[in-house]
Order: sequence, then C-alpha cells, then structure tokens
Amino acid sequence: MKLGRVSIANPFLLAPMEEHTNYPFRLQMKRHGAALVCTERVDGVDVAARDRRALRLLYTTPSEAPRVGQISGSDPAVMAEAARVVEEQGFDAVDLNFECPIRRLVNRGEGGALLADPQAVARITAAVVAAVNIPTTLKIRSGPDAANETAPEVAARAEQAGAAAVEVHCRSVQQAYVGGPDWSVLPRTKERVKIPIFGSGGVREAADAVRYLREFGADGVGIGRGCLGNPWLFAECRALWHGAAAPKSPGAQERGRALLELVEEEFRIYGPTIALRRLARVSCYYAKFVPGFDDFKRGVHGVKNLADFRRLAREHFR
Ligand SMILES: Cc1cc2nc3c(=O)[nH]c(=O)nc-3n(C[C@H](O)[C@H](O)[C@H](O)COP(=O)(O)O)c2cc1C
Repeated sequence: MKLGRVSIANPFLLAPMEEHTNYPFRLQMKRHGAALVCTERVDGVDVAARDRRALRLLYTTPSEAPRVGQISGSDPAVMAEAARVVEEQGFDAVDLNFECPIRRLVNRGEGGALLADPQAVARITAAVVAAVNIPTTLKIRSGPDAANETAPEVAARAEQAGAAAVEVHCRSVQQAYVGGPDWSVLPRTKERVKIPIFGSGGVREAADAVRYLREFGADGVGIGRGCLGNPWLFAECRALWHGAAAPKSPGAQERGRALLELVEEEFRIYGPTIALRRLARVSCYYAKFVPGFDDFKRGVHGVKNLADFRRLAREHFR
C-alpha cells in the first residue's frame, strides 16, 4: 500500500497515543513489525512556534521510518506552518488530529470538535496539503456523537482537499474511550472515497485486527491500547493475516528484555528525571503479563535509578 510516495509494508499500524507513543516506544513497535508509527498529538500552535517541548515530542530518526508526526489545531495558517515543521523534522507524513475528545481541546474548537464542521476540516487539510511535500493524513472518529456520523463526509471532503489517507477511530467523540467501537462506519466511509481508510478501536489480539480487515474492508488497522506492554501483537497479526503459524508467545525473560530496552532508551533520550517519572506507567504494562505483578508495582515506586530498576526487572521477569 502507498501513501503518496510512502510505502507501507503491511496493514498493521501503531495508533498515536498521548504519553505512550514517544520515540523509544515507536522504535520498539517498528522493530516488532508495525508498518507505520505515529507520534502522539502535538499542539499545532506550539509546533509552529518551535516550542522546545513540542520539538522534543517530534524527535525522530530514519530508523523508525516510515513515521508520521501528528498535530492538532483549528487555524489553517498555523496548521500549515506546524506541518512545515513536522516535515523539517524528517517525518514521512503529517497527520491532522480531528479526533481528540479531551474537553480542554474540544472547548477550544479543536480535535474532535471539528468533526461537527466538515468544511472547516477541509479548509485546514487544504492549507496543510499546500504547505508540505509529504503526504497529509487525518485521524478522525465516527462523528461527534452516535446520532451524527460525520466520518464519511469528513473523509470525502478531506480527499477532495488532497488528503492521502484517513484513519477512523470507530467510536464517537462523545464516547471518548468508553464502550465498544462500531466498525460498521468503515464501509460507509470507504464507499465515499478512493484513498486508503484505516480503522482503529478495540484491537486486543491478532484475531480482532484480522477480523476487522476482512469484515469491514479496512485498508489498515491502527493498534492502540492492545500493544501497550505487548509489542509481539504486531508479529501475531502479520502471521495470522498471512495464514502462517502463530509465533511462540514470549517468555518472562523476553518480556523483561523488551521492557529494559525501552526504559534504557528513555533514560538515554530524556534523562533520569523524566524517565523515572514515567517509569511506573511504562513498566507496569509489561509487568502485568508476568506473575507477581502486585510486588512489582510496589517495587517500582521505590526505584531511584536505572541500576535499581535493572535489579527489580531481573527479579520480576524470571
Ligand atoms: C491513552 C491514549 C492516548 C491517545 N492519544 C491519541 C493521540 O494523541 N492522537 C490520536 O489521534 N489518538 C489518540 N488516541 C486514540 C488511539 O490512537 C486509537 O484510535 C484508540 O486508542 C483505539 O482504541 P483502542 O485503544 O480501543 O484500540 C489515544 C488513545 C489512548 C488510549
């Protein structure tokens, strides 16, 4: 599959997740077979102003290519400038967030709020498409609420404005993350466009991802919470999709090695203060797959440095 010039090797993509899909995490998912990885949402105003924190969130290297940088905002000129910065940073595509349900953003008329205004989405998309040479993609939801399914119209207008693909999180903005996704919005969206339409929501195991591809005709599946602590999900999806034998489940030591690799990379890139602050959140996702999780959880809160953490991980992931 192609997004403009960008080739995507398989239909299993890493969905953007705030506080999770940073550079070390994306690199790990890429090594485990994610075909395309995406940063978390970064505020377009901050990106356009080249704010230091925003640029840190947009850190990338060619090792994770092809990779996408995601921005949010409602002002076409600001979003165009932010997209130029995303391109400068080296990303292979820029993704526009019209999906975020966070109240702070929605109250500003950004993120998911824009799904109620397909024409505004089209204006922002057109401004970004004109500003950059990399493909522009969109992340949307099925609509503002269950009674208003705007995804098909938003996708159609985005395609006219030059978008290269659209990923639909198959829940409404009002639903946030509660309740099951309704993937039936995908065929209704695909019917209106020629560009690839990806779906996301509710993938917890390989069978979910493959079922969504086969039953709803998605061109790709964005994997969100299902891959937290479980990068092996990507290889399992690929095997099932190709009819190959399921890969062997990772043992405790392999899980521990993957976690340590991630944590060491966080220490290297962000330094100990930030890495320690993030440690419990990052590591508990991995630790819960191994017996003795409660002890691990207690232990991780006492960790003061990387050496402490290595000891804790050696004990837990035996
Ligand atoms: C903690 C968290 C943070 C998220 N942050 C973003 C984000 O920054 N940008 C975005 O487009 N979607 C974001 N999403 C939505 C995911 O990309 C994806 O569509 C959704 O998680 C799919 O549902 P699932 O987790 O049930 O698989 C986030 C989801 C979660 C759970």
